Amino acid sequence: MRILREYEFTIMKHFELYRLSHFQLILHFCAWVIMGFASCKDSSEKIQVLQYQIDSLKQQLAETYKPGFGEFMNSLQQHHEKLWYAGQNENWKLAAFELQELQEVASDIEKYQTQRAESKLITMIKPALDSLDQSVQEANKTKFINQYHFLTNSCNRCHQTTQFEFNVVKIPETNKFSNQDFRKYQR
Ligand code: HEC
Repeated sequence: MRILREYEFTIMKHFELYRLSHFQLILHFCAWVIMGFASCKDSSEKIQVLQYQIDSLKQQLAETYKPGFGEFMNSLQQHHEKLWYAGQNENWKLAAFELQELQEVASDIEKYQTQRAESKLITMIKPALDSLDQSVQEANKTKFINQYHFLTNSCNRCHQTTQFEFNVVKIPETNKFSNQDFRKYQR
Protein backbone atom coordinates (compact mmCIF):
# COMPACT_ATOMS: atom_id res chain seq x y z
CA MET A 1 0.00 0.00 0.00
CA ARG A 2 2.78 2.30 0.93
CA ILE A 3 4.61 1.46 -2.27
CA LEU A 4 1.53 2.25 -4.22
CA ARG A 5 1.19 5.63 -2.54
CA GLU A 6 4.82 6.44 -3.25
CA TYR A 7 4.33 5.49 -6.83
CA GLU A 8 1.24 7.66 -7.01
CA PHE A 9 3.16 10.49 -5.50
CA THR A 10 5.93 10.20 -8.10
CA ILE A 11 3.40 10.17 -10.87
CA MET A 12 1.76 13.26 -9.42
CA LYS A 13 5.13 14.94 -9.14
CA HIS A 14 5.90 14.13 -12.73
CA PHE A 15 2.56 15.37 -13.74
CA GLU A 16 3.13 18.59 -11.84
CA LEU A 17 6.49 19.01 -13.46
CA TYR A 18 5.03 18.24 -16.81
CA ARG A 19 2.23 20.75 -16.19
CA LEU A 20 4.70 23.34 -15.06
CA SER A 21 6.93 22.97 -18.10
CA HIS A 22 3.87 22.97 -20.33
CA PHE A 23 2.66 26.10 -18.63
CA GLN A 24 6.09 27.72 -19.08
CA LEU A 25 6.03 26.82 -22.73
CA ILE A 26 2.63 28.44 -23.18
CA LEU A 27 3.85 31.47 -21.28
CA HIS A 28 6.86 31.76 -23.54
CA PHE A 29 4.72 31.39 -26.59
CA CYS A 30 2.34 34.10 -25.40
CA ALA A 31 5.20 36.45 -24.64
CA TRP A 32 6.61 35.81 -28.08
CA VAL A 33 3.23 36.50 -29.73
CA ILE A 34 2.73 39.69 -27.71
CA MET A 35 6.23 40.92 -28.52
CA GLY A 36 5.65 40.10 -32.16
CA PHE A 37 2.45 42.08 -32.12
CA ALA A 38 4.07 44.96 -30.34
CA SER A 39 6.97 45.15 -32.80
CA CYS A 40 4.52 44.78 -35.70
CA LYS A 41 2.49 47.64 -34.32
CA ASP A 42 5.70 49.54 -33.76
CA SER A 43 6.89 49.18 -37.35
CA SER A 44 3.46 49.88 -38.81
CA GLU A 45 3.43 53.11 -36.79
CA LYS A 46 6.90 53.94 -38.14
CA ILE A 47 5.71 53.28 -41.69
CA GLN A 48 2.75 55.59 -41.10
CA VAL A 49 5.05 58.36 -39.86
CA LEU A 50 7.38 57.90 -42.86
CA GLN A 51 4.43 57.92 -45.26
CA TYR A 52 3.21 61.15 -43.69
CA GLN A 53 6.69 62.68 -44.10
CA ILE A 54 6.88 61.58 -47.76
CA ASP A 55 3.43 63.04 -48.44
CA SER A 56 4.27 66.37 -46.86
CA LEU A 57 7.60 66.53 -48.76
CA LYS A 58 5.75 65.80 -52.01
CA GLN A 59 3.33 68.60 -51.15
CA GLN A 60 6.19 71.01 -50.43
CA LEU A 61 7.89 70.05 -53.69
CA ALA A 62 4.69 70.60 -55.68
CA GLU A 63 4.29 74.04 -54.11
CA THR A 64 7.92 75.13 -54.61
CA TYR A 65 8.15 78.11 -56.92
CA LYS A 66 9.65 77.29 -60.29
CA PRO A 67 10.04 79.94 -63.02
CA GLY A 68 7.83 79.34 -66.03
CA PHE A 69 9.13 78.92 -69.58
CA GLY A 70 8.25 82.54 -70.39
CA GLU A 71 10.20 83.81 -67.41
CA PHE A 72 13.29 81.93 -68.54
CA MET A 73 12.78 83.52 -71.97
CA ASN A 74 12.59 87.00 -70.42
CA SER A 75 15.89 86.24 -68.77
CA LEU A 76 17.39 85.10 -72.11
CA GLN A 77 16.07 88.31 -73.66
CA GLN A 78 17.84 90.47 -71.06
CA HIS A 79 21.18 88.71 -71.38
CA HIS A 80 20.86 88.74 -75.15
CA GLU A 81 20.52 92.54 -75.05
CA LYS A 82 23.28 93.09 -72.48
CA LEU A 83 25.59 90.89 -74.52
CA TRP A 84 25.09 93.21 -77.48
CA TYR A 85 26.08 96.34 -75.56
CA ALA A 86 29.03 94.59 -73.98
CA GLY A 87 30.27 93.62 -77.48
CA GLN A 88 29.61 97.07 -78.89
CA ASN A 89 31.77 98.53 -76.15
CA GLU A 90 34.38 95.81 -76.68
CA ASN A 91 33.97 95.02 -73.05
CA TRP A 92 34.98 91.38 -73.51
CA LYS A 93 34.94 90.51 -69.83
CA LEU A 94 31.32 91.58 -69.57
CA ALA A 95 30.52 89.86 -72.87
CA ALA A 96 32.01 86.60 -71.58
CA PHE A 97 29.93 87.00 -68.44
CA GLU A 98 26.70 87.57 -70.39
CA LEU A 99 27.46 84.55 -72.56
CA GLN A 100 27.88 82.50 -69.42
CA GLU A 101 24.51 83.74 -68.17
CA LEU A 102 22.84 82.77 -71.45
CA GLN A 103 24.39 79.34 -71.16
CA GLU A 104 23.13 79.01 -67.59
CA VAL A 105 19.57 79.97 -68.47
CA ALA A 106 19.63 77.44 -71.33
CA SER A 107 20.78 74.72 -68.91
CA ASP A 108 18.09 75.74 -66.40
CA ILE A 109 15.42 75.40 -69.08
CA GLU A 110 16.63 71.87 -69.80
CA LYS A 111 16.66 71.08 -66.09
CA TYR A 112 13.49 72.75 -64.81
CA GLN A 113 11.20 72.71 -67.83
CA THR A 114 11.23 68.99 -68.60
CA GLN A 115 7.41 68.95 -68.83
CA ARG A 116 7.59 71.21 -71.91
CA ALA A 117 8.57 69.35 -75.07
CA GLU A 118 10.16 72.53 -76.49
CA SER A 119 12.86 72.47 -73.81
CA LYS A 120 14.85 69.91 -75.78
CA LEU A 121 15.18 72.43 -78.62
CA ILE A 122 17.01 74.95 -76.46
CA THR A 123 20.25 73.35 -77.69
CA MET A 124 19.55 75.22 -80.95
CA ILE A 125 21.37 78.26 -79.55
CA LYS A 126 24.44 76.30 -78.42
CA PRO A 127 26.42 76.51 -81.70
CA ALA A 128 25.85 80.29 -81.77
CA LEU A 129 26.90 80.64 -78.13
CA ASP A 130 30.06 78.65 -78.84
CA SER A 131 31.08 80.77 -81.84
CA LEU A 132 30.28 83.95 -79.92
CA ASP A 133 32.51 82.70 -77.15
CA GLN A 134 35.26 82.23 -79.72
CA SER A 135 34.89 85.80 -81.00
CA VAL A 136 34.90 87.16 -77.43
CA GLN A 137 38.10 85.28 -76.63
CA GLU A 138 39.68 86.63 -79.78
CA ALA A 139 38.35 90.12 -78.94
CA ASN A 140 37.13 90.31 -82.53
CA LYS A 141 34.27 92.81 -82.87
CA THR A 142 33.44 92.03 -86.54
CA LYS A 143 33.25 88.34 -85.81
CA PHE A 144 31.23 89.12 -82.68
CA ILE A 145 28.62 91.06 -84.68
CA ASN A 146 28.32 88.25 -87.25
CA GLN A 147 27.91 85.61 -84.58
CA TYR A 148 25.44 87.80 -82.71
CA HIS A 149 23.25 87.73 -85.83
CA PHE A 150 23.66 83.96 -85.87
CA LEU A 151 22.48 83.79 -82.23
CA THR A 152 19.48 86.04 -82.88
CA ASN A 153 18.50 83.92 -85.89
CA SER A 154 18.81 80.78 -83.75
CA CYS A 155 16.41 82.28 -81.17
CA ASN A 156 13.89 83.01 -83.91
CA ARG A 157 14.33 79.65 -85.59
CA CYS A 158 13.22 77.97 -82.37
CA HIS A 159 10.28 80.36 -82.03
CA GLN A 160 9.21 79.40 -85.54
CA THR A 161 9.63 75.67 -84.87
CA THR A 162 7.59 75.88 -81.67
CA GLN A 163 4.76 77.98 -83.20
CA PHE A 164 5.80 81.07 -81.27
CA GLU A 165 6.95 82.78 -84.47
CA PHE A 166 5.17 85.98 -83.32
CA ASN A 167 7.91 86.40 -80.68
CA VAL A 168 10.52 88.03 -82.85
CA VAL A 169 13.95 88.77 -81.40
CA LYS A 170 16.06 91.44 -83.08
CA ILE A 171 19.35 93.31 -82.73
CA PRO A 172 18.88 95.85 -79.90
CA GLU A 173 18.48 99.48 -80.95
CA THR A 174 18.28 101.42 -77.74
CA ASN A 175 19.85 100.37 -74.50
CA LYS A 176 17.13 100.11 -71.90
CA PHE A 177 19.59 99.30 -69.12
CA SER A 178 20.44 102.90 -68.32
CA ASN A 179 21.52 101.94 -64.81
CA GLN A 180 24.40 99.80 -66.04
CA ASP A 181 27.70 100.98 -67.49
CA PHE A 182 28.67 98.79 -70.43
CA ARG A 183 32.05 100.36 -70.99
CA LYS A 184 35.20 98.59 -69.93
CA TYR A 185 35.69 98.81 -66.22
CA GLN A 186 38.40 101.32 -65.31
CA ARG A 187 39.65 102.11 -61.88
C1 HEC B 1 13.29 75.99 -77.24
C2 HEC B 1 13.43 76.88 -78.33
C3 HEC B 1 13.65 78.32 -78.02
C4 HEC B 1 14.84 78.98 -78.11
C5 HEC B 1 16.18 78.42 -78.54
C6 HEC B 1 14.55 80.35 -77.75
N1 HEC B 1 13.24 80.50 -77.40
FE1 HEC B 1 12.35 82.18 -76.78
N2 HEC B 1 10.60 81.24 -76.60
C7 HEC B 1 10.40 79.90 -76.83
C8 HEC B 1 9.05 79.54 -76.45
C9 HEC B 1 8.45 78.15 -76.54
C10 HEC B 1 8.44 80.73 -76.03
C11 HEC B 1 7.03 80.89 -75.47
C12 HEC B 1 7.15 80.85 -73.97
C13 HEC B 1 5.87 80.65 -73.23
O1 HEC B 1 5.15 79.68 -73.49
O2 HEC B 1 5.62 81.44 -72.31
C14 HEC B 1 9.45 81.78 -76.14
C15 HEC B 1 9.22 83.09 -75.82
C16 HEC B 1 10.17 84.08 -75.87
C17 HEC B 1 9.95 85.47 -75.58
C18 HEC B 1 8.64 86.08 -75.16
C19 HEC B 1 8.55 86.11 -73.66
C20 HEC B 1 7.46 87.01 -73.17
O3 HEC B 1 6.84 86.61 -72.18
O4 HEC B 1 7.29 88.08 -73.72
C21 HEC B 1 11.13 86.13 -75.73
C22 HEC B 1 11.41 87.59 -75.51
C23 HEC B 1 12.09 85.13 -76.11
N3 HEC B 1 11.47 83.90 -76.21
C24 HEC B 1 13.42 85.42 -76.32
C25 HEC B 1 14.36 84.51 -76.74
C26 HEC B 1 15.74 84.81 -76.99
C27 HEC B 1 16.38 86.17 -76.84
C28 HEC B 1 16.32 83.65 -77.40
C29 HEC B 1 17.73 83.41 -77.83
C30 HEC B 1 18.80 83.90 -77.02
C31 HEC B 1 15.28 82.62 -77.37
N4 HEC B 1 14.11 83.18 -76.97
C32 HEC B 1 15.52 81.32 -77.72
C33 HEC B 1 11.31 78.99 -77.32
C34 HEC B 1 12.65 79.28 -77.57
